[in-house]
Amino acid sequence: MRLLKTALVAGALAVLSATTIASAYAQDTKIGFIVKQPEEPWFQDEWKFADQAAKEKGFTLVKIGAEDGEKLMSAIDNLGAQGAQGFVVCTPDVKLGPGIVAKAAANNLKLMTVDDRLVGADGKPLEDVPHMGISATKIGEAVGQAIIDQMKARGWKMDEVGAIRVSYDQLPTAVDRVEGAISVLKAAGFKAENIFDAPQAKTDTEAALNAATVVLNAHADIKKWIAFGLNDEAVLGAVRASESVGIPADGMIGVGIGGAESAINEFKKPTATGFVGTVIISPKRHGYETALNMYDWIANNKEPAKLTLTAGALAKRDDYQKVRKDLGIE
Ligand code: GLA
Repeated sequence: MRLLKTALVAGALAVLSATTIASAYAQDTKIGFIVKQPEEPWFQDEWKFADQAAKEKGFTLVKIGAEDGEKLMSAIDNLGAQGAQGFVVCTPDVKLGPGIVAKAAANNLKLMTVDDRLVGADGKPLEDVPHMGISATKIGEAVGQAIIDQMKARGWKMDEVGAIRVSYDQLPTAVDRVEGAISVLKAAGFKAENIFDAPQAKTDTEAALNAATVVLNAHADIKKWIAFGLNDEAVLGAVRASESVGIPADGMIGVGIGGAESAINEFKKPTATGFVGTVIISPKRHGYETALNMYDWIANNKEPAKLTLTAGALAKRDDYQKVRKDLGIE
């Protein structure tokens, strides 16, 4: 009997200490979540969902905005000095890849990327760094298809239409997205010479507006326009540019990628604009899941998948609420 009692007490103690150790470990776990454009709603949403993972698992999430390489490098050093064990990052410049990897290693930090995949000196992805991004080509194709459907619904003759390719070609996922759209447009008979490049200096609305304005002014004879780019901000910039040169909403078809606040605010306007739709992607997967993956890596030694590509779903002004709900991001 005494033996049994001792065993029971020992067992209980073991369970107790295991849980204490586990929770103490979670409390000590510190994970950084660094994003290139903290003011962009997409990244705000990623942080929101990463916070959810931190709350659930009891780790500390350190959110840092790093708009350029210098800020990013000192953010990584900072995380190291704070005793963090790892971080998730969407870098302001994918070419910093090898530097980021070295900095993470020097600080003994586990590294995972989100949205924008690091590349090496040869421009090829750093496949050893776990990454979660969107299925860029497929999502771009969905954008192209949505634009074609809308052109048909409006009875447009394709030859009279100009296309604004809001571009940010130094970022591979941006190229894949716009090229996905273009491949579908071309397959449907859209002429390559009617597609005009509008290179943006930064991936925000203002930069896209400036770039698109140049295209619209250079082709003032064209009255019907379509626009696509790497995200909602890019397309919103093109739509704002079209408005500023006097093209009415029914003369513009813009379809974005994202589905966060930027798109929602547009859909909420009492009158429809030229921003007709967006392919909604999942900030929950990109924020919650990456943070959780990093936690599992640190706490349970479970390494994340090397590459995870997430899907998107087209939403328009009249059904975006339902699509968001179905995706679990309401
Ligand atoms: C890039 C874009 C963001 C967003 C993410 C999604 O980082 O700059 O706006 O589209 O991809 O992965």
